[in-house]
This record gives sequence, C-alpha cells and structure tokens, in this order.
Amino acid sequence: MAEPVVDAQYLKEVEKARRDLRALISVRNCAPIMVRLAWHDAGTYNAETKTGGANGSIRNEHELNHGANSGLKIAVNFCEEVKAKYQKITYADLYQLAGVVAVEVTGGPTIEFVPGRKDSLESPEEGRLPDAKQGASHLKDIFYRMGLSDKDIVALSGAHTLGKAHPERSGFDGPWTNEPLKFDNSYFVELLKGESEGLLKLPTDKALLDDPEFHRYVELYAKDEDAFFKDYAVSHKKLSELGFTPSSSIKEAVKTSTLVAQSAVGVAVAAAVVILSYLYEVRKKV
Ligand code: HEM
Repeated sequence: MAEPVVDAQYLKEVEKARRDLRALISVRNCAPIMVRLAWHDAGTYNAETKTGGANGSIRNEHELNHGANSGLKIAVNFCEEVKAKYQKITYADLYQLAGVVAVEVTGGPTIEFVPGRKDSLESPEEGRLPDAKQGASHLKDIFYRMGLSDKDIVALSGAHTLGKAHPERSGFDGPWTNEPLKFDNSYFVELLKGESEGLLKLPTDKALLDDPEFHRYVELYAKDEDAFFKDYAVSHKKLSELGFTPSSSIKEAVKTSTLVAQSAVGVAVAAAVVILSYLYEVRKKV
C-alpha cells in the first residue's frame, strides 16, 4: 500500500486523533490492551528480511487469529472508532499512536511519535511473537531478530506494569502489579520480591532474573524509576518504528509543529500572567 503523505494536514489529524485516543482510553479503561496491540503489530519484525513490523497488518483477520493475538480484536475495534474520524491516518500510525498515548495517560513517560508508517495487507507467518512459557535464550532469539537489545528486552518487559493476563486469552491469569492501570516501575519491584499472592509472573518474566545482563537492568529499574522511564521511552520508540524509517523532512515537520504548539502554549501562559497581574493591580487600587 502507498506511503502516507505527511503534510501539515496529516500532522493536524494526528494531533486530533491523539486527543480522541486520550479520551477513549480513559473512558474505556483500555490502556493495557492498546499497548499490547501496538506491541503485537510491531513485534513481528524481522530485521534481516525486513518483513513484518509496525505496518497495521494485525488488523487482517488471519493475523488477528494467531494464538498470540487472542483478545486483540477488542483493541482493533476501539481504534476503528478513531480511524472512522481520521481516514487519512494509516492503521500502522494509529496503532502506534494508541500505544504511545496509553503509556502517557497511565502516568508513564512521554514517547516521541513520528508519523508516516505505511499500511500492509501482508501478514507474517504465525510464531514471530515470544512464547511466555520459554526462557532467556528464547527472548534473546525473538528480540534480536527484531534488531533490539538486552536493555530493550528488560525495559519493554516493564510494560507489564499495566494490565493482566486473561485465562480465556493466554491461559495465564492475573495482573503483574497491585495497580495495573498505573505505569510505574512496580513490575521490577515485584519481580525482585519473588512470588506474591494474586500477582502473576510468566516464565519469561522470571527469565529476566536468570540472565546476568538482564538482571542488572531489573535491579536498576526497581531502584530508579527515572532510569526506567528514560530507557523505556527510547525502547518503546524503537519498537514503534520497527520496519519504518522516518524521512528527515517528516522528522523536521514534527519538530516544527511541536515547537509551534509549545510557543502557542507559551503565548497563552504569558497572556494569562499579564491579565492576572492587571486584575490584581485593579483590585489593589479598588
Ligand atoms: C517479553 C516477552 C513477552 C511475553 C512472553 C508476553 C506475554 C504476555 C501475555 C501472555 C500476556 C497476557 C495476555 C492476556 O491473557 O490477555 C501479556 C499481556 C500484556 N503484555 Fe506482554 N509479553 C511480552 C512482552 C511485552 C511487551 C514488550 C509489551 C509492551 C511493550 C507487553 C505489553 C503487555 C501488556 C500491556 C499486557 C496486558 C494486556 C491486557 O491487560 O489486556 N508485553 N503479555
């Protein structure tokens, strides 16, 4: 399918879709499944063959029916509500935008979002996403195939701070943390504590304690939430851009529109300060 034209109008639609997604995610309480949708669309990437990745192909019936994607039709349908309003935006961009917004509205770090992903109708073969019953070497095989690192594996696993497993979807049950709608570093704190009643640890979560390279990041993120947020934002951006290389003109356009938005906020704040000090002076005189 054709590459989207990322012009001023496209960027404006992205900003409007971002606002709608914030509202939708808060009203429906669906942040966790939106993050999982974004991850499962992007996480099929193969850096060698340059196939799969963040291309919206997860919406195809047969990919949605892959075992790993059980339950994600709910998130695809939520995104349809936004897509209906902003037809220009590709599914690939929309799913990644939903993931970024979901992390932000639950208290997580701001993740830079650059639009321009192309949609694909071609789905990869089943089996590219990780199997939760396996260990550290399997995690490395899967994430290295995407071109990601050990640090990315641990930081991104921290997304399990959100949500829970559903027996009818994955066969696993329960949340990883006590506040599954809050994005924080509690996934790592709980992981180091060991088994806690009512909280889940997948074999792949426990594998982060087995490998020394993984373990040192678990320790760091459990004690330093800022370090986790900083690394998570970088790794999530990488994940959201698997199979997509934004052109420098798109990056420039995004930067300029962010600056314009920021200076508009600056002007509004300055105007408010002037008006308030004027009112204060008037009141003092009265
Ligand atoms: C490291 C390998 C990973 C494995 C084996 C894995 C496996 C799973 C499983 C089995 C579930 C439960 C699904 C259900 O029953 O509803 C789940 C949920 C979830 N996963 Fe992962 N995951 C991995 C990595 C990631 C990554 C990289 C992210 C995001 C960056 C992520 C985000 C989530 C979220 C947010 C949920 C909760 C979904 C909900 O509450 O509906 N996971 N994952």
